[in-house]
Amino acid sequence: MNTPQPRNPVPGAEAPKAVLFDAYGTLFDVYSVGLLAEQLFPGHGPALTLMWRDKQIEYTRLVTVSTHGRPGELDAPPMYRPFWELTRAALVYSIKRIANNDPSAWASGTFDSKIEQLMNQYRHLSAYPENREVLLALKARGIVTGILSNGDAAMLGVAVRSAGLDDVLDHVISVDPIRKYKTHPDAYALGCSTTGFAAGQIAFVSSNGWDALAATWYGFRTLWVNRQGLPFEELGTQPSRIGASLKDVLAFFPA
Ligand code: LAC
Repeated sequence: MNTPQPRNPVPGAEAPKAVLFDAYGTLFDVYSVGLLAEQLFPGHGPALTLMWRDKQIEYTRLVTVSTHGRPGELDAPPMYRPFWELTRAALVYSIKRIANNDPSAWASGTFDSKIEQLMNQYRHLSAYPENREVLLALKARGIVTGILSNGDAAMLGVAVRSAGLDDVLDHVISVDPIRKYKTHPDAYALGCSTTGFAAGQIAFVSSNGWDALAATWYGFRTLWVNRQGLPFEELGTQPSRIGASLKDVLAFFPA
């Protein structure tokens, strides 16, 4: 059996020149909406939060895979919708699935206010406490820093400003201009075109196992931040490093 390998593995000795971070789940806690979800849908908060996240990511894959590779449509992909819209669609789906699929309740707008409250909370997700310290430590070492995210520019801008990270990030890269979501290689390629570094000179950090895996396939050095004690993906490739906090990215840069 062939084991998938990174496309351009790099000698381990050379420290990366840039570190790019996934946003949602990695810098910003997507499960911080759980408390509000539980208040609005008692007994369903955790399930709703989990399904919302899974459905959101499923939709990114659905629109990316369904759009590309169809002759004649490459310049005008019809299925693509910005991450904010997919996030809302995923929330509506999850509420219908978990809480109430009664058409009359939907027709009367019963859930409108709850959807708005949850979307507003998503706009201002909690940032992980170690973010700033880690980014400052990277800047002190002269490393280029950035976000490489499925989020659209508007939502990333609000999240970065709310978390007070503007001054420690050199780049906030959204896939939105190319209308393809991670894990499409073109999405990861934005990291190279924006920073000017080759994939092997970039460390990519994600808490999402699928993202760390695909970024490794792409050729980035990778850190999977396993905040939840999960198993890594069973597809034959391991990330360069596994850690429990963003601080573990500093291991790429021995003193
Ligand atoms: C992101 C999502 C996938 O920020 O977490 O790209």
